[in-house]
Amino acid sequence: MKFAVINDLHAQFTPKSHQSGYPGANGRAEWMLGQFAKGGAHDDVDFLIGAGDLIHGEDLKAIRAEMKALRKRLKPLAMPFYPCCGNHEIKQWEGDADYERPYTKAFGKDRFDYAISTESLEIIVLNNAGTYHVTSKRREQRAQRFEQMLKARPGVPKIVICHVPLVSIRDRDVLRGSFGFISYRCLEGELLDLLDTVGGDVRLVVSGHLHLTGMVQRRGVCHLTTAGTASFPHDYAVVDATPDRISVNVRALPKSLHEPASNIHGPPRYEAGYTDADHPKALSYLRGRPGERRFTIKL
Ligand SMILES: [Fe+2]
Ligand SMILES: [Fe+2]
Repeated sequence: MKFAVINDLHAQFTPKSHQSGYPGANGRAEWMLGQFAKGGAHDDVDFLIGAGDLIHGEDLKAIRAEMKALRKRLKPLAMPFYPCCGNHEIKQWEGDADYERPYTKAFGKDRFDYAISTESLEIIVLNNAGTYHVTSKRREQRAQRFEQMLKARPGVPKIVICHVPLVSIRDRDVLRGSFGFISYRCLEGELLDLLDTVGGDVRLVVSGHLHLTGMVQRRGVCHLTTAGTASFPHDYAVVDATPDRISVNVRALPKSLHEPASNIHGPPRYEAGYTDADHPKALSYLRGRPGERRFTIKL
């Protein structure tokens, strides 16, 4: 079984909604989706997962228009598409019916916290897009759903998809500075508690949101974040699973589509790029070391 995860397209397929956004994001989003249409380089994957921020959004009017336009662009896909909610789809308002409506109209009401069940793998999709801003009601509901899904099909290896990483993907203090938003990781610690107590089947967590690529291991679980297409270095992930291993391959978009000015962890947003102890060069801070981009998990 093979599937791909794309994220952070920040597409604005409706010309009227452009007040802000990432330079060249639409062209890269179009290229990315084209790879999964019939005849595209990845038309052989069994399904495609969108790990959030597929649109840029900004306000409710733009969210409505962009979501509608995105839906049209997903129609030519040669395989099933599974969404995961990002903060730009709902402007952080996790659990708010008005802000969630464009997403539910596009994908259905059952596409926030749900499982993709395959014969040998259970893929858990969880909405944590409103981390820090989340209401206590939604926070409780989110944790309950996560617990239920983690406990389902005991013994079957599980992959979790959530927009905001559950752990810090770079040195915590450095990442908090370079990302510049409080949501540099999911701040509700009960999700990690659940991984530790009832998440024994989970082998991999895949996220987006940070606009950089990296993988860290915590208590035997690989936590991967891919940069997505809007921001340099423009990455996505292909996951190949057999009954005895999960192979992850992070791929970059073609160089001709790269836009260094879309980097959010360096110039032009900051005077210089960031580094941390494990990533002594600005480029490795953005792209990750080779072992973060290509790795195999034995089952
Ligand atoms: Fe994003
Ligand atoms: Fe995000």
